[in-house]
Amino acid sequence: MKVTIVGAGNVGASCAEYILIKQIAKEVILLDIKDGFAEGKALDLTQTTSTLGFKSKVLGVTNEYEKTSNSDVVVITSGIPRKPGMTREELIGINAGIVKSVSENLLKFSPNAIIIVVSNPMDTMTYLVNKSFNIPKNRIIGMGGILDSSRFKTYISKSSGYPQDQIEAMVIGGHGDTTMIPLTSLAKCNNKLLTNILSEDEVINIASDTMVGGATLTKLLGTSAWYAPGASVSYLVNAIVNDTKEVLPCSVLLEGEYGTKDLCIGVPVKIGKNGFEEVVQLDLNNKDLEMFQNSVSAVKETNSALDGLI
Ligand code: LAC
Repeated sequence: MKVTIVGAGNVGASCAEYILIKQIAKEVILLDIKDGFAEGKALDLTQTTSTLGFKSKVLGVTNEYEKTSNSDVVVITSGIPRKPGMTREELIGINAGIVKSVSENLLKFSPNAIIIVVSNPMDTMTYLVNKSFNIPKNRIIGMGGILDSSRFKTYISKSSGYPQDQIEAMVIGGHGDTTMIPLTSLAKCNNKLLTNILSEDEVINIASDTMVGGATLTKLLGTSAWYAPGASVSYLVNAIVNDTKEVLPCSVLLEGEYGTKDLCIGVPVKIGKNGFEEVVQLDLNNKDLEMFQNSVSAVKETNSALDGLI
């Protein structure tokens, strides 16, 4: 399997690192526009081969899309990250043009690849790729929900004391501070409903901490996070290349599911070698359904900034 990651910045490089360490793909290509940057990251990563003990190979290239030929999966992390105080939506003006041209270049050399979109505002960027190229929707997946769910599980674990591997929890909706929906009513710790373990206030706090999970890190780090985002992308890549059929929250083009049309937004989907294979319908309560509708409206509003680009 060959995986290309565009953008050798923090998220792209972390993703490459996890793919190598876990030997998810035999070959990883790291591509960046900054002269020598991806080459440097790839060389540094290659020098961890003997100490970390993996067989996968990584190659870094500056804008040489030929080297990405015949990739099975391509990951787009390019664009600018947010700075403290910024929302993901504010990045659209710069990132939309970048994501469109990167996708075009990737598809020239890997017309059958599955595309994972990470650049922000992620739901809108995923929609942009869907609208710009005539490829099946199943091959375009926005990664945000897996990351948001991993933050949700972190806060649930901190508050409940249950280890993260005993926690089942999912975040759906848009990948935005006000648009994501941590599904507190469905979350479970060791098969017990979260709402039966913690007080209402505790559950409310977990949900609000989750929603600003990315912003909290941006404030602490001065730029957006990378370990959990990189790990979440590698988790999705693994589900695709190993055809795991796992149900994961991802941003995909909806055509009537969840009462929504012509929009990419986070919903649970079954992931396998063909990308997302089906949208899984959850039994949402009225409050969550209402939040989903609000999220749909907010993502639509952000998408309207794409006028002229699609
Ligand atoms: C975050 C960015 C990657 O949530 O969207 O950290």
